[in-house]
Amino acid sequence: MNASELAVTVSRVSSGAKLIMVSNREPYIHEREDEGIRVVRPASGMVTALEPIVRAVGGTWIAHGAGSADRLVVDEKGRIPLPPDDPRFVLRRVWLSKQEEKGYYHGMSNNALWPLCHIVYKRPYFSRSDWEVYKAVNRKFCGAVLEEAGNDPAIVFIQDYHFALLSRMIKDERPDIQVVQFWHIPWPNREAFRIFPWEEELLDGLLGNDLLGFHIQYHCNNFLETVGRAMESLVDYENFRIFRGGHPTYVRPFPISVDYEQIQKDVDSPEAEKRKRRFLKELEGEILNTTLYVGADRIDYTKGIPERFKAFDLMLSRYPETKTKVTLLQLAAPSRTAIATYRKLNEELDELTEEINWRHQTEEWVPIRFLRDHHDYYAVLAACRMANVLLVTSLHDGMNLVAKEFVSSRSDGDGVLLLSQYAGASRELPDAVQVNPFDLDQMADAMYAAFLMPEEERRQRMERMRSILEKNNVYQWGENIFSEVERTPSLEGMP
Ligand code: G6P
Repeated sequence: MNASELAVTVSRVSSGAKLIMVSNREPYIHEREDEGIRVVRPASGMVTALEPIVRAVGGTWIAHGAGSADRLVVDEKGRIPLPPDDPRFVLRRVWLSKQEEKGYYHGMSNNALWPLCHIVYKRPYFSRSDWEVYKAVNRKFCGAVLEEAGNDPAIVFIQDYHFALLSRMIKDERPDIQVVQFWHIPWPNREAFRIFPWEEELLDGLLGNDLLGFHIQYHCNNFLETVGRAMESLVDYENFRIFRGGHPTYVRPFPISVDYEQIQKDVDSPEAEKRKRRFLKELEGEILNTTLYVGADRIDYTKGIPERFKAFDLMLSRYPETKTKVTLLQLAAPSRTAIATYRKLNEELDELTEEINWRHQTEEWVPIRFLRDHHDYYAVLAACRMANVLLVTSLHDGMNLVAKEFVSSRSDGDGVLLLSQYAGASRELPDAVQVNPFDLDQMADAMYAAFLMPEEERRQRMERMRSILEKNNVYQWGENIFSEVERTPSLEGMP
């Protein structure tokens, strides 16, 4: 499946209806800088996956305008054609006040729903005023959707946990609009979810959708069970749909992916080459002589970065022959630093890096290189290609697209993927070296096994993983969703 084939499917399915995408994070951020305005691509798995699709099929993308120069480059409705050098779709920015951003984004989305849905033993915090702001912001986005739709038929494709109430709001105003939502993070089991104080209201909001997607079947099962126990509705376990007030919501797994072909090209581009040279200069070239372990993540407690560092430390102590022979290069994008848990994690990582390096380093060798920065797409690809071993050690993760970017980038056929069994990607990639990131001993041994793995085995595993992703690329993900939209009539009555 490629971009133009997907565009054909989408235009057949939408048959003239406007396509409107909604997400919190915008695909391009305009930032004010000393030299002028810089366009930044955010570190977001959601954006990484969606941008190529919207570029292929066109339409309008509605998102929060969060950049310092965002207002300077749009028209009076907050619209701007993108990408900047080759416009294919329109981004409509929605403006939020500081207070709205605090209650809806930092508070309800990232300090309540994010830890609630990821089972990593960080407690969620609930506040009624955040919930009220979250509702108001969902309503604001609903206003933007209705304005963009005008009086025309439309298909609205909503992304993620920032908009649990949006589909219901849209349907209340315009029942004829088809609404689809993809939940990019896990859906926990019923026991975990039941502590959410406004459970019924949130679930009712999500049941405004005609189609609701999760990465894996397990999350769909959890969702059905949560609804079945929490509220009055008819849960049809056989056909994976839920009727609420006579309206069906189909619940389906769609494992998200990356633009496999494009990554092959971009990894060999002059931009990626430039980033590689920059890394080598910064690291004084020494990493060329060691087995290079790479991590590339947002600094988020779900990603298991401290656990990764500790396991690396353990490997160095337990298998001393690895000393001076291995380096861990961690690219780490600062994220959500307005939230205390994230600030603490940053401090913890600095301390851990210092402590581990102090314990093992020699005059010529430093085991962990921690580069905290907004590394762009090409930098991540360059690092993936330089890696001997890529580390994805999430404690819980909906999918994890860095794992898939790594495999896609390895047209040389080499490289080991060490992958958490709690990342959605582990279901599709059984040839990765799978780890339980809560078990540091096992993870240290797995890192050592990757160090020792013979080239032939590395290549065989990589080849099998590549053939899976060559087929299951992001356009196939879009194709699966839109074909399902075609199969699910929105106004079907009760069985
Ligand atoms: C996850 C979420 C995305 C989000 C991304 C980055 O991948 O599913 O919706 O964009 O994290 O987080 P941020 O809060 O910076 O958008």
